[in-house]
Amino acid sequence: MTLILAIETSCDETAAAVVESGRTLRSNVVATQIELHRRFGGVFPEVASRQHVLAIQAVIRDALQQADIDDVRALDALAVTQGPGLAGSLLVGVNAAKGLAFAAGRPLVPINHLEGHIYSNWIDLPDRPGARDDFPVLVLIVSGGHTELILMAGHGQYRLLGSTLDDAAGEAFDKVARLIGLGYPGGPAIQEAAAAGDALRYPLPRPLMHNEEHRFNFSFSGLKTAVLNLTRQLERGGVEPTDPSTAADIAASFQSAAVDVLVEKCADAAKHYGVRQVCICGGVSANRGLRLAAQERFAAMQIPLHIPPLFLCTDNAAMIAAAAFFRAQGSPFIADSGLEMDVFATLPL
Ligand code: KG4
Ligand code: ZN
Repeated sequence: MTLILAIETSCDETAAAVVESGRTLRSNVVATQIELHRRFGGVFPEVASRQHVLAIQAVIRDALQQADIDDVRALDALAVTQGPGLAGSLLVGVNAAKGLAFAAGRPLVPINHLEGHIYSNWIDLPDRPGARDDFPVLVLIVSGGHTELILMAGHGQYRLLGSTLDDAAGEAFDKVARLIGLGYPGGPAIQEAAAAGDALRYPLPRPLMHNEEHRFNFSFSGLKTAVLNLTRQLERGGVEPTDPSTAADIAASFQSAAVDVLVEKCADAAKHYGVRQVCICGGVSANRGLRLAAQERFAAMQIPLHIPPLFLCTDNAAMIAAAAFFRAQGSPFIADSGLEMDVFATLPL
């Protein structure tokens, strides 16, 4: 049995978790700052890092307590998100992790946040077994900052098949939400509004769909601009795009366009590379429309699909612990408490 305590503070959630052997949750604590940032309409970096400082100690203490760990020397290793993310926020988690690792005399494993999202799919839950070690695996990461299709030949072996050429999927949800007067964060607000809307009301483009040159790349800025043009056109015709029923139809039409592109490209890549499993992860994988469309599509293709439960879709530390476990794959962790570890605002996989 390997016990890893992980810390994640890359954006606006202060999170700590203890995971056993990469798959079993012993605790998973997340303190979200969402209310604090709502009035700015986005994450305010300075506010975020200060809030991490205020929350981190209690979050780590709760994670250890809930895992029944009263001595940090019971841990085999610690893990922490090193990037990508907000540098000031990352620093809070990294410094807390350094202190704990040093005190416990245990190695500290630096983890890429995106690798964390990938491994959220390997966590087993009582009613939902995680991904198996059966490769190749196709991964679609859809978050606020990333939209990437990745082919995994094995643990830790990533090949980038394609990514967004402009906005990330989550960014598009957030921007479109703003255009139609929905709150922050935009993803959940769009989903909520779309539930009451007509997805066929406004025909919107499916950017780069069936595009040979950009077969596995995405583009969302054109879709966002199409929504902007639509709202202007409606306004000129005397229709308020923020009117709830109009906003619902725009939200539904936008969500269906975004979901169509994501699922279509994912299915195309899964077929092309003959993968054994498909994993979708990142904040946007919480989207009900995306989950349903992907489930339907991959069931028809008879390819096992994994999407984490909602609480593991958005940022959390359990996924960071899982990634650290599979990084070592049972071999001993390098004895290093990482005192010189730096953070990286941008960090490729
Ligand atoms: O992974 P995440 O929590 O943070 C990043 O690493 O970026 O992703 C946040 C993004 C935001 O853009 C948010 O609007 C989006 O995920 N999101 C959603 C939903 N829940 C969160 N997008 C669509 N539908 C949702 N239900
Ligand atoms: Zn994330």
